[in-house]
Amino acid sequence: MEKITIGKGIYWVGVTDWNLREFHGYRTGRGSTYNSYLILDEKKCVVDTVKTPFTSEFIAKIKELTSLEDIDYIISNHLELDHAGAVAELAKVCPRAKILATGQWIEGAKKYFGPNLPVQQVRTGDKIPLGKNTLTFIEAPMLHWPDSMFTYLPEQEILMPNDAFGQHYATSQIFNDQVPEEILMEEALRYFATILQPLSPLILKMLDKIAGLKLKFKVIAPSHGVIWRNAPEKIIAAYQRWSEGEANREAVVVYDTMWGSTEIIGRKIAEGIMKENLPVSVLSLKENEPGDIITAIFKAKAVALGAPALNNLPFPEMVKLFTFLKGLKPKNKIWALFGSYGWNKGILPQFGEEIKAAGFPMPLPVFETRFRPGPEEEKAAQEFGQALAKLINNKQE
Ligand code: FEO
Repeated sequence: MEKITIGKGIYWVGVTDWNLREFHGYRTGRGSTYNSYLILDEKKCVVDTVKTPFTSEFIAKIKELTSLEDIDYIISNHLELDHAGAVAELAKVCPRAKILATGQWIEGAKKYFGPNLPVQQVRTGDKIPLGKNTLTFIEAPMLHWPDSMFTYLPEQEILMPNDAFGQHYATSQIFNDQVPEEILMEEALRYFATILQPLSPLILKMLDKIAGLKLKFKVIAPSHGVIWRNAPEKIIAAYQRWSEGEANREAVVVYDTMWGSTEIIGRKIAEGIMKENLPVSVLSLKENEPGDIITAIFKAKAVALGAPALNNLPFPEMVKLFTFLKGLKPKNKIWALFGSYGWNKGILPQFGEEIKAAGFPMPLPVFETRFRPGPEEEKAAQEFGQALAKLINNKQE
């Protein structure tokens, strides 16, 4: 195995999950990695493990670099099984290793691995000297589980923040300066939008905390995707903007349709938006998976959702999207709702009230037509799109 170093005496021993195509209900078209780091100092330690099916490959990588008997610590920054899936097995084959983790991790781990893991709790500010390096811990609850923490090596200015700053991006290139920046930033944004978006207020607090500690970063080594060694402050700045709800001056129309009527309305709304010189994209829920839709919504300032009525409810794919959205809590957007019904007028306005009650502002009345929209209704849909675009164009930042 080629040795990959991310600092002096610090080796990448993670695995690449080339064909991962689903994570938390979203498509991961570029696969992912589960990054783990081996620190060979006077004391030796492994930071984070990998998803369970990769346990043998992972342990073999460590064995190529050191004897398992020599491992003193296993740091587990996060209990979710894409990172802690191999921790129990690794602890079993490293006879003197202690697992260092937060109190929440230790409690949760009992449910996954039983009560007998060799654990030691660490807290924010705790320092464990390894020789030339010092392990320093920063608890990061809810980034992205209650147990999460960051590990920092001050001597080499390396941050290992687990999920934060990661991307589902499998590549043979390990560092950010080795991959196309456009793809990397798109994957980092997509990861933020689909996984971390609801935690934005906590991320802002964490970024403040980090700034307050005056930590410097030469390398930010997350647990998914490539490692930021070239201008790592760039991803921190992006997280600041994304957590504040930064979006483009553009709109997205997302719809499902039964016999094409809702689709016609959606396309007319998009035409109206374009008439006001605002960029827009139109996405069918049948043809696009939730990750693509959520990412497009995250980037836009205005979102028009369209669904026909089915029985006494909106079409199911839209209800599914709304379930995602309620959990993700997108910020700083203007929402609109449109659709077609047959004999159950009022279903969509009722759904509109649910959307508003979930905290999504919807200043325009719901646009609904009975069956196929006629020429007047198509014109009205276009005007509805123009009205939506004007709200964005007039919005004060
Ligand atoms: Fe990559 Fe929260 O797990």
